[in-house]
Amino acid sequence: MLIDGSGRHISYLRLSVTDRCDLRCTYCMPEGFQSDDEPREWLSFDELERLAGVFARQGVEHIRLTGGEPLLRRNLPELAARLAAVPGIRDLSLSTNGTRLAEFAGELRRAGVARLNVSLDSLDRNRVAQIARRDVLPQILDGLEAARGLGFRQIKINMVALPDTSHDEIEAMTEYCIARGFILRLIETMPVGQSGQNAGFIDLRPVMQRMREQFGLIDGVVPGGGPARYLVSPDRKFKIGFITAISQHFCDTCNRIRLAANGTLHLCLGRDEAVDFRQLMRSGHSDTEILAALQAGLAHKPARHDFGNTQHRLIRMMSATGG
Ligand code: GTP
Ligand code: 5AD
Ligand code: SF4
Repeated sequence: MLIDGSGRHISYLRLSVTDRCDLRCTYCMPEGFQSDDEPREWLSFDELERLAGVFARQGVEHIRLTGGEPLLRRNLPELAARLAAVPGIRDLSLSTNGTRLAEFAGELRRAGVARLNVSLDSLDRNRVAQIARRDVLPQILDGLEAARGLGFRQIKINMVALPDTSHDEIEAMTEYCIARGFILRLIETMPVGQSGQNAGFIDLRPVMQRMREQFGLIDGVVPGGGPARYLVSPDRKFKIGFITAISQHFCDTCNRIRLAANGTLHLCLGRDEAVDFRQLMRSGHSDTEILAALQAGLAHKPARHDFGNTQHRLIRMMSATGG
């Protein structure tokens, strides 16, 4: 079992398989960010499978594939199949921007990915083009339609709440999700990287209260590994999650660690503490030594993020860890 320095049980690994992305969402990545071919420092599928085994033997049961955009990593369905087969992993999920979902949804489902989280900030084509800096709404909607019929256990829509997100947009997204059985989540922007710091922030607590009153929603529970707090309709047909990292942080119940594509294990999304697993793996260390390094790192997992600290800003971009 993995227990961190604050006594929290670590059961959820977020695995970023690339920091590359085909979009440039304003709150995540600058327009000018360039990326080239897959570099050698990225952990290979063999290395990732081995690490997943080490983690799973210690009680990690959820793995979420993230990016950048994970579907840009070559042969991702092959990696998914290998991770789904690791003994002890009982929940394999993927967070994607949806642009390639129409092409990959079937393969991912067959590989054992059970749950999908798809980023979608608006249903207005121009606004998506403005936020993602690419005109991709039709592609994303096609991807979601393709995924819908394939028997995924759960599809969630991640909508980042920006200062100019209107209540009408949230309502339109609510109706879209109800009609398709998708679970909507609203996310507060986090000041990760310069783009995240420039994005502007709205406190979601009043939105949560308004949704409670307008639709008669009550507190509810939705399966998943992450930090969202959910409201559900009394008939349980509609579920909406709120990821209130800033206004009401959820660090006390954090069960997560994040491995970046280059093998850096980040102990907290909102902090710099990290352990270099690439170096460990490539210098011939045994599984037992790797586990010892993991446990030593976890002893220093920060008790909470430090997003409010304007003296120390996170330089790392959100795309390095995929949220
Ligand atoms: P589920 O398994 O469906 O609960 O997934 P998830 O919500 O953990 O994953 P997803 O990739 O969809 O992340 C949604 C949002 O939650 C992103 O904006 C993440 O940055 C944010 N998030 C996830 N874990 C943490 C965390 O430990 N700290 C903070 N601050 N944000 C997090
Ligand atoms: N703040 C909050 N969420 C973010 N995401 C990307 N950048 C930020 C940010 N600065 C979200 C994406 C995606 C999820 C994995 O992380 O919209 O849905
Ligand atoms: Fe790409 Fe996701 Fe970042 Fe948007 S939020 S630029 S889709 S990694």
